[in-house]
Order: sequence, then structure tokens, then C-alpha cells
Amino acid sequence: MRIDIVAAVPSLLNSFLGHSIIQRARDKGLLTINIIDLRSYGLGKNRQIDDYQFGGGAGMVLMIEPLVNCIEDLKAANQYDQIIYVTPDGKKFDQSMANSMSLLNNILIICGHYKGIDQRIREHYITHEISIGDYVISGGELAAAIIADAVGRLVPGVLNDETSALSDSFQDKLLAPPVYTRPATFNGWDVPNILLSGHEKKIDEWRFEESLRRTQMLRPDLLEE
Ligand code: ADE
Repeated sequence: MRIDIVAAVPSLLNSFLGHSIIQRARDKGLLTINIIDLRSYGLGKNRQIDDYQFGGGAGMVLMIEPLVNCIEDLKAANQYDQIIYVTPDGKKFDQSMANSMSLLNNILIICGHYKGIDQRIREHYITHEISIGDYVISGGELAAAIIADAVGRLVPGVLNDETSALSDSFQDKLLAPPVYTRPATFNGWDVPNILLSGHEKKIDEWRFEESLRRTQMLRPDLLEE
């Protein structure tokens, strides 16, 4: 899978997506993440990418021209399944969205910054608008990084047995069960006996019950869906 991300502050993405599972997937060639610095399409000698909004009001807006030039260049080289704008008024991102996006071949994510992007980009280029939650962060970069991480780790072959996504929280609309590692006793605090029993079926049942119990207690809304 290929994920292209256009950003006004690319360094925010480079470090976030350059470690651990996602970096290993990139090294293995399972995942290509291409971060494009919008400023390289900036106008004039100052490489301007933002300007005041028409009608007045606080906050800068990412200009149409650098974004169009950038998106057109990318579209000439790649066929995108989705061109996504990350924005607090988009559709709320969740695990089932991540699952279906992980089956796509090519996506382009446009990050807003400051007040956002010129509306005409949204009308003429964007196919999907996604929010990571009902709060506002300073720019779309972290939202894009979160989406690229959640989607990228689900690309076939990225996770191995130890990191399998099947037991993640939300994967089956349940929270994950608690996990423990050695030592079995610390400070008199014991790991549940069943996990030491070696009885696979009983362990699976215990984990399912714990998932259900935790979901009922912490996120009953997930069970109502
Ligand atoms: N940009 C600023 N806030 C955001 C949010 N909650 N989701 C996606 N992009 C954003």
C-alpha cells in the first residue's frame, strides 16, 4: 500500500512514522509512505503557502495554488483510490474505517494547518473527509499520522503473530482483555492462574469474558451498536 501525505509541517510526520512497526513495514516494502512538503510548492521567493481569509477573521488559510500544483503533480504520477482531507468536521475515524482503508492500494492525505484549506480544494479534489475525534488540534499532521499508523499496521503482512491485530481493542467491537508478562508474582500481586494453566480453550474463554466485562464496564456504548 502507498500512503502519500501533503503537509505544511512534514517533520511532525517524519518522526511519528519512522519507528517500530510502521518503519519495519516500510523497510520491508509492504508500505510506502511518501511525505510531501507543501512549502516546496509555495509561491514566490518566500515560498508562501498561506494567506488571510476573505471576509476577515483570525487565522491563516492554506492557499489554493500551491495545493492544486502539488495535488496535480501527485495525480499525474499515481492513481488514488481516495484523496482525503483531515478535518474536525469530517467523518469520525474508527477501527472499521481503518480496516477497509487497509485494503486500498493508494491514498493521498491532505493536512490542513492554521484555519484549514481553501474550500475550493475540498469541493474539487477531496473524495473523503476524516476527523480523528471531536476536538481541534493545531494541524492535520498528527491526524494524518494517526490514520497512516492505524491503517498501515493492518496492511497484510505488516503484523506477525506476536503483534496480531485480531486481539486488538475494537477489532470485534470489544475492548482487549488485560495482558501480563513475567514474573508471575511480584510484590504479592499474582497473574490470574488460568493464564498459567496452558489450557488454550479455557484461556480463550477467560479472555473473551474479560473483554466483555471490560467493555460493559468502560464502553457500554460499543455493545449497544
Ligand atoms: N485537524 C485539526 N483537528 C482535527 C481533527 N480532530 N481531526 C482531523 N484533523 C484535524
